Amino acid sequence: MNKQVKGFSKLSKEEKINWVASHYFQHTEEAKNLVQQYWNTDPDLQKIHDEFIENTLTNFYLPLGVAPNFIINDKSYVMPMAIEESSVVAAAAKAAKYWGQRGGFKAEVLGEEKIGQVHFIFKGDAARLQTFIHKITPKLKADTAAITKNMEARGGGIRAIALRDKSDELENYYQLHVSFLTVDSMGANFINSCLEQMAQSLQIAAREEDSFAPDEKEIEIVMSILSNYVPNCLVRASVDCPVKDLEAEDEMDQNAFAEKFVRAVQIAEVEPHRAVTHNKGIMNGIDAVVLATGNDFRAVEAGIHAYAAKSGQYRSLSAAKIENGHFYFSLDIPLAVGTVGGLTQLHPLVKWSLTLLGSPSAKELMQIIAVAGLAQNFAALRSLVTSGIQKGHMKMHLLNILNQQGATPAQKEAAVVHFKTHTVSFSAVADFLKTTV
Ligand code: MEV
Repeated sequence: MNKQVKGFSKLSKEEKINWVASHYFQHTEEAKNLVQQYWNTDPDLQKIHDEFIENTLTNFYLPLGVAPNFIINDKSYVMPMAIEESSVVAAAAKAAKYWGQRGGFKAEVLGEEKIGQVHFIFKGDAARLQTFIHKITPKLKADTAAITKNMEARGGGIRAIALRDKSDELENYYQLHVSFLTVDSMGANFINSCLEQMAQSLQIAAREEDSFAPDEKEIEIVMSILSNYVPNCLVRASVDCPVKDLEAEDEMDQNAFAEKFVRAVQIAEVEPHRAVTHNKGIMNGIDAVVLATGNDFRAVEAGIHAYAAKSGQYRSLSAAKIENGHFYFSLDIPLAVGTVGGLTQLHPLVKWSLTLLGSPSAKELMQIIAVAGLAQNFAALRSLVTSGIQKGHMKMHLLNILNQQGATPAQKEAAVVHFKTHTVSFSAVADFLKTTV
């Protein structure tokens, strides 16, 4: 059966649900009911969520948890985290407490530069193009005045415009490589609007340029778009303490633990298979806070992984060392996030999360998010190099397994006690439930 539909976006929400349920589900009523069950009972609140995207049918829940006891640059925070993975929030809270007792986390912003590019084709003399761009740069900037006015009042705006000759890599390909400061906003709309204006000004100015031969006057704009690779919008989070103050998860002595920990980070530095998983653990913390604060986690993910591969090989984002009996552990990541604009004023739970964090500036939020990544990495490595990851992970996963197997509240309570001293697995839980009422 051909299931193509015309004018779907024009249907009402109920009509969309009916169409989807009747075409793709055997149990139509059940499918409709489930979707409607997730609607918010407050129609105004539901409307806010409906209008975020096109064709909204319902809400998709993720738990929003908090990890308390974070100390960052001597200030206390409770970290809001939106994530589905059982052990992540617990691990963050554990790492926060651990480092809270050892002076807390330090974080600093190393750069705030955002990037956008106008990609274009110029079939002519490169030197003449360079002179032309140099000449029209003030005009390219001036033409964006209406867009940049408010941003400039806040201390941001266009910082530099450079011509990049990429014609060695792709015939006749050049770009305007533009750097921006966007203060407390992530700046995607601002950057894209500026770029589109610059592209238009560039094309018009080329047509009017006397030094250009007739075939040089037609610049082909391919696209104008921000780059999510922002290696100079960089934040560093770190912890350090004397090795003698470290504590492993089991009985391992401090020196052995510190050395094994550093070795684990070194492995992720040289071995891409391990680096990907190592960095995935870092992203567990980063994505959860990025999501809770209404930021674009796809942009953050893409930019961070590109940064991890900047040497030509995918490597660890974190670094660890021992020097003169002192343990150092740090994380550098590029992070373009905002605390104004986007979802930040629209999504009630995003507003709530930002208030929980003390209404941070974008710079402060960069620091908080980097710390969440470092904390997560520390917690994972601390388990991995001592008792292994599964003990803690399966303990946190126990409730999911119990729910999957339909355990009653009494069985759940008994299971939590029982599995404190027994290994958790799907079959061990099934056996336990058979013998416990
Ligand atoms: C699981 O979500 C994350 C870890 O695999 C990270 C790591 O291996 O470092 C535990």
